[in-house]
Amino acid sequence: DNSTTRTLKEYHREAAELYHHILVNTQLGESALEYLHQRGLSDDLITEFQLGYAPSKRLLMPFFSEHQPDYQLLRKSGLFVESQDGKLNDRFTDRVMFPLRNAVGQVIGFSGRLLAKNDNKPKYLNSPETELFNKREVLFNFDKARVEARREKSIVLFEGFMDVLAAYRSGVKNGVASMGTSLTEQQVYTLARATKNISICYDGDEPGQNATKRALELLNSVERFGLSVITLPEKLDPDEYVKKYGAEKFADRVHHGKTGELDFYFSYYQQDRNLTNEQDQLGYIDDVLHELARSNDPIEQDLYLNRIAERFQITKSNLETQLRDVRASLQ
Ligand code: GTP
Ligand code: MN
Ligand code: MN
Ligand code: MN
Ligand code: MN
Repeated sequence: DNSTTRTLKEYHREAAELYHHILVNTQLGESALEYLHQRGLSDDLITEFQLGYAPSKRLLMPFFSEHQPDYQLLRKSGLFVESQDGKLNDRFTDRVMFPLRNAVGQVIGFSGRLLAKNDNKPKYLNSPETELFNKREVLFNFDKARVEARREKSIVLFEGFMDVLAAYRSGVKNGVASMGTSLTEQQVYTLARATKNISICYDGDEPGQNATKRALELLNSVERFGLSVITLPEKLDPDEYVKKYGAEKFADRVHHGKTGELDFYFSYYQQDRNLTNEQDQLGYIDDVLHELARSNDPIEQDLYLNRIAERFQITKSNLETQLRDVRASLQ
């Protein structure tokens, strides 16, 4: 920790405190607070995550100016954008603010969400890359989740911040989310230091399922994790699921509704296929056997081969032969 990063962290801590204060104690924050209440977040949760509100482009600078700041560093902090005439304006305006923290809970950046849909602006705006903030490394809520993982023996991956918060208020506190990008290798190394068991609970829509497949592949390429998938019905994301079915049902799904990796693939490869059609059946069986070929658990293999044999009325020995061929082709 050199003095530059120490000071940058201080600025971020102060900004988070100010945004939070604006949200919970001032009239400027009223509509944002109402928005968060509408989305089911309690005041306790808002405080615990130090959610905030950024009202206008002239909040932070007047505040920092009172404390003889290092203007060079403020310029590099990512909290401001420079106007034509070289003035520093707040980067985040009229957004609900999510502080982003490093593994030990220090604020290193922000993501801000619009209160209402606006076609000209991104729904979420993140801090730019700075000396503190690298979006390929950060996992929202990792500071809390890694502590929780000691008890739960696992971490749950979500797509969005609101999903992590919905899970949290359902009692699932070991959830993290990447920054809207797909999971990165750096994030996987970070996760591996905290736990060897990962559950993926991405959105129930098609992009979410495709992202699940990519995440499984990445996780498998880095480390021997125990992996499971929690799928949600009706294309819902976890936040929408909690809203529709309640916190208890959600927690129950996370704790008892996990499926194994292979089960995920068995349903994943049905997407866009008509399994009464022979051509589609052959493609499906081939895809599934490719996943099965990576397993080196003979009982697991047997189980799944039986399942395919029964379902498509194929003799098991033929499937075994094909599985051997697939294996050989992968060597
Ligand atoms: P809500 O609409 O608030 O419930 O968000 P969501 O989490 O359901 O959003 P969505 O499923 O669309 O996206 C998941 C995650 O992707 C978000 O939590 C963000 O981290 C990220 N994301 C979504 N939209 C944007 C965007 O416009 N810009 C950036 N940089 N990230 C985004
Ligand atoms: Mn209210
Ligand atoms: Mn999504
Ligand atoms: Mn979503
Ligand atoms: Mn959502």
